[in-house]
Amino acid sequence: MNKYIEIIDQKLDEFMPICYPQKIFKAMKYTVTLPGKRLRPVMCLEACRMFGGNIEDAIPTACAIEMLHAQTLIHDDLPCMDNDMYRRGKLTNHMVFGEAEALLAGDALLTFAPQVILNNSQKLGAEKLIKIMEEYFLRAGAHGVIAGQAVDIQSEKLLQRSTCVAPGQAVDIESEKFEVTEDDEQLPGILDYIHTHKTADLFKLALRTGAIIADATDEQLEEITEFGQTMGVAFQIADDILDVTSTFEEMGKTLGKDEAAGKLTYVNLYGLEKSKKDLNELLDKCFDILKRNNLQSEIFEQILNKIRIS
Ligand code: IPE
Ligand code: IPE
Ligand code: MG
Ligand code: MG
Ligand code: MG
Repeated sequence: MNKYIEIIDQKLDEFMPICYPQKIFKAMKYTVTLPGKRLRPVMCLEACRMFGGNIEDAIPTACAIEMLHAQTLIHDDLPCMDNDMYRRGKLTNHMVFGEAEALLAGDALLTFAPQVILNNSQKLGAEKLIKIMEEYFLRAGAHGVIAGQAVDIQSEKLLQRSTCVAPGQAVDIESEKFEVTEDDEQLPGILDYIHTHKTADLFKLALRTGAIIADATDEQLEEITEFGQTMGVAFQIADDILDVTSTFEEMGKTLGKDEAAGKLTYVNLYGLEKSKKDLNELLDKCFDILKRNNLQSEIFEQILNKIRIS
C-alpha cells in the first residue's frame, strides 16, 4: 500500500505543473497534494493488479480519480455547502485562496482529471478509453457524486430534534430523540441514496476503471461493483460515526457539525450503536464478497480493517 501511495504522490506532482493563471493551478494542486489517505487511487491500482493488469497502465486514471476526489472535497467544504475550515490537517481551499478561486479550482479539477487520463493513457486504445470516460462522467456527474451531494444538502433539517440542547451543553447522541417529518418512512431510502452517490460512486469508479484497464470480464466487473458499493456505504457510515466520536488530530478536518447542521447521516437517523453494528456487518459482507468470488487482496483487507470501528 505504501509503495502505491509513493507512486501516486510522485505522479500527482508530475501531472500538475503550475501554469498560467498560477493562482488557479496552485489552488488545484493545494488540496490534491495535501496528505489524504489516497484510498481511491490505491483501489484503482489494486483492482487493476487483482485482475491481472499492469499497474503502470492504471496510474494516470488512479491519479485523475484522486483529483476528482479533491474537487468534491473543495466544493464540499465551501461556505454554501458544509462550510468547513479544515481539511487534511490544513485550512480548506477557500480559506487559503478565497471562495471564487476555490470554486474555480474545483471546476478546473473536474475537467482537468479526464484530460490527464486521455493525455497519458493512449496505449490503452480508444475502446478502453471510451469505457473509462463513460465511467468517469457517470460517477462524477449529475447521476453520480453531484446527485448525492445535492440530496445531502436538500436533506438538511429533515430530522428535527425534539429535545432542545442549550448552547455549550454536551449532546448525548444516544439519548437524542429525533422527531421526523411525514417523510419518516422515506428517510432510510434517502440516506442510502446519499451514501451511494456521494461516496460509493467514487469507490466504484476507482475499482471499475482499474478492472477495465486489466481487461476484467463483465462478471468480474459486477463482483467488484458490488464490493465498491458495499465498501463505499460502509466508509460513509464510518465517516458519520467519526464525525461524532473522533478528534481533529485524528481526522484532520472539522468534526461534530453533522448534528448541528441537521444532516441526514447514519448516526442521526439510527443512533451510534446501530451505526456501529451495521457498519461492521457491511464490512463482514465485503470480506464475504472477496472470498466468495475468490478475489485475493491484502490491500483491500487492510483497507476494510482500517474502516472497522469497535
Ligand atoms: C472524505 O474522504 C470524504 C468522504 C467520503 C467521507 P476520505 O476520508 O477518503 O478523505 P481523504 O482523501 O483521506 O482526505
Ligand atoms: C462528503 O461527505 C462526500 C463528498 C465530499 C463527496 P461529508 O461532507 O460527510 O465529508 P467530510 O466529513 O466533510 O469529509
Ligand atoms: Mg458534505
Ligand atoms: Mg463535509
Ligand atoms: Mg463527514
